[in-house]
Amino acid sequence: MTHLVHAVGHLKLNVTDSDAVIRDATEILGLHVTRREGGQTWLSSNGREAELVLLQSDENATHTIGLEALTPEAVREAESRIESVGCKIISREPSLACIAHGVTFSTPEGLRFEIHTPVRDSIYGRRHATTGVGPNRMDHINLMTPDPAATRRQLEVIGGLRLAERLVDDSLNWMYGGNRQHHILGLVKGKTGLHHYSFEFLEFNQYLRLGDTLDRFDKQMIWGPGRHRPGDNTYAYYTDASGAMIECAGSMAFVADDANFEANVITQLERPGNVRVMNVWGTPAPLEWRTHHFPFTSVID
Ligand SMILES: [Fe+2]
Repeated sequence: MTHLVHAVGHLKLNVTDSDAVIRDATEILGLHVTRREGGQTWLSSNGREAELVLLQSDENATHTIGLEALTPEAVREAESRIESVGCKIISREPSLACIAHGVTFSTPEGLRFEIHTPVRDSIYGRRHATTGVGPNRMDHINLMTPDPAATRRQLEVIGGLRLAERLVDDSLNWMYGGNRQHHILGLVKGKTGLHHYSFEFLEFNQYLRLGDTLDRFDKQMIWGPGRHRPGDNTYAYYTDASGAMIECAGSMAFVADDANFEANVITQLERPGNVRVMNVWGTPAPLEWRTHHFPFTSVID
């Protein structure tokens, strides 16, 4: 069981104005609400019961990053490794009613993860009426950590994630799991938090619809569209009412030959030389994107 973690499971956010974030998620991105009760809202882009979970709160902050493992045995194996790398188990029970097994833990860097069995999914109920763009699935999360090497080590040991690519100064690491897409997690060096979370677009014309839809809400893309070199996915980014940044990403490169794969190390960090290293095409990343930070709620007691 090399890759205990298969894919992104879900993302929980604390938000001060659930109605405003739900409006952006449904009317711009095109998610639908699957459950709303007791200050908790589940949203999904497909037949899964929850991909984005909003918790009504007095702060806008990341609550937990959910990582999907395929079996209860994989969850329990991950659980057995948590304390060996200095992380702390918070709960051995699943956090959501749509998950059968889960373990939640915090890291010394102030991140909180839940490794859990797949969210209940209706694969023949993927489509729903929406005026938003309508992505395919939540596909990756770029977190922020003050110590990317420590976070990378924890994820390797606990979840069996592997490094796909990194900048030589560790300011960005991309990690892959069992589904082999180039990254399901990005590790960005900085104050603990979230840089962006991403939903997958299946067609390029969805970027046109995204831009036009954002305009109707007097908003704009922060960056894109373009195509990243790491991951080879197309992208566009915008922020929602909570201040979180959302990427709409095209399909990624896959690491099929896992046995012979060696992580790429990007050594060209300075502009203008690194512009082509980081981007196949599109404009260089603007300052607003490079300095974006969405906090993580306090998880260390
Ligand atoms: Fe991304």
